Amino acid sequence: MTAAAADPSPATPAERVRIYEVGPRDGLQNEANPVPLGTKLRYLEMLADAGLREIEATSFVAPSAIPQLADADELMAALPRRPGVRYPVLVPNLRGLARAEAAGVDAIAVFTAATDAFTTRNIRMTIAESLDAFAPVLARAFALGWWRRGYVSAAFGCPYSGAVAPEAAVDVAVRLLALGLEEVCFGDTIGVGVPPQVQAITARAVDAGIPLEKIAFHFHDTRGTALANVAAAMSVGIRCFDASTGGTGGCPYAPGAAGNLATEDLVYFLDASGLDHGVDLDGVLRAARFITDALGKPLATKVGQAGGWDPATGAATGRATARESA
Ligand code: COA
Ligand code: ZN
Repeated sequence: MTAAAADPSPATPAERVRIYEVGPRDGLQNEANPVPLGTKLRYLEMLADAGLREIEATSFVAPSAIPQLADADELMAALPRRPGVRYPVLVPNLRGLARAEAAGVDAIAVFTAATDAFTTRNIRMTIAESLDAFAPVLARAFALGWWRRGYVSAAFGCPYSGAVAPEAAVDVAVRLLALGLEEVCFGDTIGVGVPPQVQAITARAVDAGIPLEKIAFHFHDTRGTALANVAAAMSVGIRCFDASTGGTGGCPYAPGAAGNLATEDLVYFLDASGLDHGVDLDGVLRAARFITDALGKPLATKVGQAGGWDPATGAATGRATARESA
């Protein structure tokens, strides 16, 4: 193996990485404790303060399916938009699109999966039915000039049907992209993926004609593989990663799905690797403490506990002061 091939991240320092924050949506959709609207709005504000520029804010899904996000209409109507910040929302059907439009949304994500076993439980449609349902949604969003993303969930493994071949995940991605999307995001919904799978999916996607800049990855850290997967994806040219501030998250229709890759863990990793992303670790840590306090949980992420690290002094940075944590 050559030295270049062994380098986990051959990106030049100038190459910018996109951190796509999913805490307010994926992070909150599976939490037992309801979070008041005002707390959600403050969390969104703190995330933008930290420099995050893509923040998935909520879901316009059936309130009976995700009661935690049933306040999506009020939330998006009340959310002050920051210039330069995109606030996508999940939309499963035309009903959701109409609600999103009324609430002043201009960016959406549709979501299907790599297996029928998962989609039929999550959105009560087969993959084919979901694509049929998304076609008019995406056509309308395109006509409105909205930004559009599509998720392929359970792309690394399904909680109901087991192993997923990279070909199966990429086949769904190709069909999704054909409906008109800015990007497709492969989700490791239950956190079972490993680096060889990341590289196999990426290689297969490139073979299928999907440009690298249209590919994002969404890792859950359920089994501690999320950052290894990011490094693997970086090594094959991917530059967009989902993460959740505070490491909250999971899908109620994916048993055992633990938290997303924590934004603070990702930001530390990128900072220490000399990669540009525009997000401030201290700001992320403040938002992480805020939301875990609101949920009544400890901040259990690695960097949430350890803080960042200042190579000039050797000291940890960004940790809660006694006053803050009191
Ligand atoms: N917004 C609000 N209500 C909606 C809706 C939407 N986007 N879509 C459907 N509904 C309502 C319907 O009006 C109906 O209400 P009623 O029972 O009071 O008449 C009910 O939800 C069922 O509607 P139906 O069209 O039959 O949908 P379904 O039961 O087949 O469910 C979904 C399909 C996609 C709407 C539902 O499974 C869902 O919202 N899933 C989201 C799951 C999710 O977000 N998972 C986490 C993300 S990975
Ligand atoms: Zn997720």
